[in-house]
Amino acid sequence: MKTRFTERFQLKYPIACAPMALIAGGVLAGAVSRAGGLGLIGGGYGDPEWIAQEHANAQGAPVGGGLITWMIEQNPSILDAALSHQPRAFMLSFGDPRPHAPKVKAAGAALICQVQRLHQLEQALEAGADVIVAQSSEAGGHGMANRATITFIPEVADILAQRAPDTLLLAAGGVADGRGLAAVLALGADGALVGSRLWASRESLAHEASKARSVHLTGEDTDRSIVFDVLREKHWPPGYTFRALKNTMTERWSGREDELLAVAEQERETYRAAMAAHDYTIGHSPVGQATGLIRDIPTAEEILERMDGQAADVLKRLGRPI
Ligand SMILES: Cc1cc2nc3c(=O)[nH]c(=O)nc-3n(C[C@H](O)[C@H](O)[C@H](O)COP(=O)(O)O)c2cc1C
Repeated sequence: MKTRFTERFQLKYPIACAPMALIAGGVLAGAVSRAGGLGLIGGGYGDPEWIAQEHANAQGAPVGGGLITWMIEQNPSILDAALSHQPRAFMLSFGDPRPHAPKVKAAGAALICQVQRLHQLEQALEAGADVIVAQSSEAGGHGMANRATITFIPEVADILAQRAPDTLLLAAGGVADGRGLAAVLALGADGALVGSRLWASRESLAHEASKARSVHLTGEDTDRSIVFDVLREKHWPPGYTFRALKNTMTERWSGREDELLAVAEQERETYRAAMAAHDYTIGHSPVGQATGLIRDIPTAEEILERMDGQAADVLKRLGRPI
């Protein structure tokens, strides 16, 4: 399928791989880019050695990258390190992109800004974003609980059409098959940024036992909370929560994070031991509501092919008079 996104970035598919922290390494991002999507390496909290190794693992595929924006404020050198690998595009999420945009542009990378709320869209437009990713609450990993795809995407699309018509729009959150891709194109997006479905690919760095759990669950088996941030001692700004598969840890502590803080040391030990043993009934599996649509662990290329083919079929079918 052709969209403004495939044309601007010379892609075969209107799909970008989310820069999932420590999950979208060079092998996954490289596979997505080679297949004809846009692969983004998930630099996350910004370990320069990890980022360098993962760019090497992409083996020359035209990949981009991404970082958690509020971490750059704490340590500006991580942005320089990430940009030194000449990413073709760079995604800033979770914080004000304006102070960092000039560096991204000076490095020759397209600037992608992920937003969850309209005031963040304002900041992204002021930053001169080439691409806006509008992330809704279905999404896996960090995000916000406020907005759902069916109203958020067209609302953002309308604002862009009026204020920044050359800025592209990708939808993020719950797009895991061709129906979702066709839907977000219908809502006004130029493509989708896909996390969870590619998390459950062969090339992702998620552990096999974690991926295996997601295959059997439904969209009701995830939860948004700060339980795992407390356990991992990640100090996210207020408003952000983390969507992961429900397990004994979330069942016990979700909504009771203040009480968790009181016994955090003991629970952190249990959590760390579980992660070391790959026990995801206690450790976290950061998947979104798309888990209800994930039934196998194919290659990234197969995921892109299927998603695009099914979306084209859906759009053709809907285009026919009833
Ligand atoms: C495992 C995982 C890790 C993620 N890490 C990041 C990250 O480091 N930076 C970021 O901008 N977004 C991150 N995200 C969010 C994605 O960018 C994207 O918004 C989300 O995956 C889209 O929803 P979906 O998971 O339903 O496809 C992550 C998502 C997942 C599933």
